[in-house]
Amino acid sequence: MPARKIIIDTDPGQDDAVAILLALASPEELEVLGITAVAGNVPLELTARNARMVCELAGKPETPVFAGCDRPLAHDLVTAEHVHGKTGLDGPDLPEPSMPLQDGDAVDFIIETLRAQPEKTVTLCPLGPLTNIAAALQRAPDIAARIQEIVLMGGAYFEVGNITPAAEFNIYVDPEAAEIVFKCGAPITVMPLDVTHKALVTSSRNEAFRALGTPVGIAVARMTDFFERFDKEKYGSDGAPLHDPCVTAYLLQPDLFSGRFINVEIETRSDLTRGMTVADWWRVTDRAPNAMFMGDLDADGFFSLLTERLARL
Ligand code: BDR
Ligand code: CA
Repeated sequence: MPARKIIIDTDPGQDDAVAILLALASPEELEVLGITAVAGNVPLELTARNARMVCELAGKPETPVFAGCDRPLAHDLVTAEHVHGKTGLDGPDLPEPSMPLQDGDAVDFIIETLRAQPEKTVTLCPLGPLTNIAAALQRAPDIAARIQEIVLMGGAYFEVGNITPAAEFNIYVDPEAAEIVFKCGAPITVMPLDVTHKALVTSSRNEAFRALGTPVGIAVARMTDFFERFDKEKYGSDGAPLHDPCVTAYLLQPDLFSGRFINVEIETRSDLTRGMTVADWWRVTDRAPNAMFMGDLDADGFFSLLTERLARL
């Protein structure tokens, strides 16, 4: 089978970094056509920098990296330095990137790629706020029918929220964008907090990364060391959730995940629950299903896959 073509849309972010590394470590299955940076965990200038640092860490400086939207569609940017540190990628000691950012805008790259490639052969993998994807859909509505699938990290049902009591960060930062994406008609698979909070980097799992003894293994262990301090305090859990790698792991081994094909709507109006993913998990409405909403994963299988792939870099 030819490798599946993907565009990773991202706001690195230590967990975004691990998701990118997992994809770049798997060229037989995944062809990364490009990485598009968006403002989210930290401002755009830093996410565009961090994405390139990760490509260089992976030994893949030829990966095209584009910068996209520097703010959400309708509101001011909310960032998450309290989780990811000042640079967004605090923890490991990585050099400033020397590979260039591509000329041109990430949104145009997404549009042009979807138009240039055969219909339904490109999968979008958003790991941050959905601003770039929504901007592309607004600018070029024809691309919706050309998308193979959108596999995204965002939202929550049982776990409700992590940035407000009702909302998960990626959706909260740009709910108007999320609404456009969830209504676009392309096949959507969602990795909500319900799944990602089960992908916990326990100390033995982190030791397995460190024990790889490679620059990648050591950097990933240091990234996790850094951001787990926040999650341990907040949730009292044994280790931090690796949210975004669930997206790339799903592309490699979908049977690690299970969920339901249901209706998911985005709350954009309420001050109290803005950015909530109103997921009809119990199918109590007759609203048409629009997303495969995951609920569970095989955490041991996920970490075996991740560790085995990181070892290849
Ligand atoms: C999401 O928010 C970001 O902080 C992480 O990178 C992840 O994409 C989790 O809510
Ligand atoms: Ca992210």
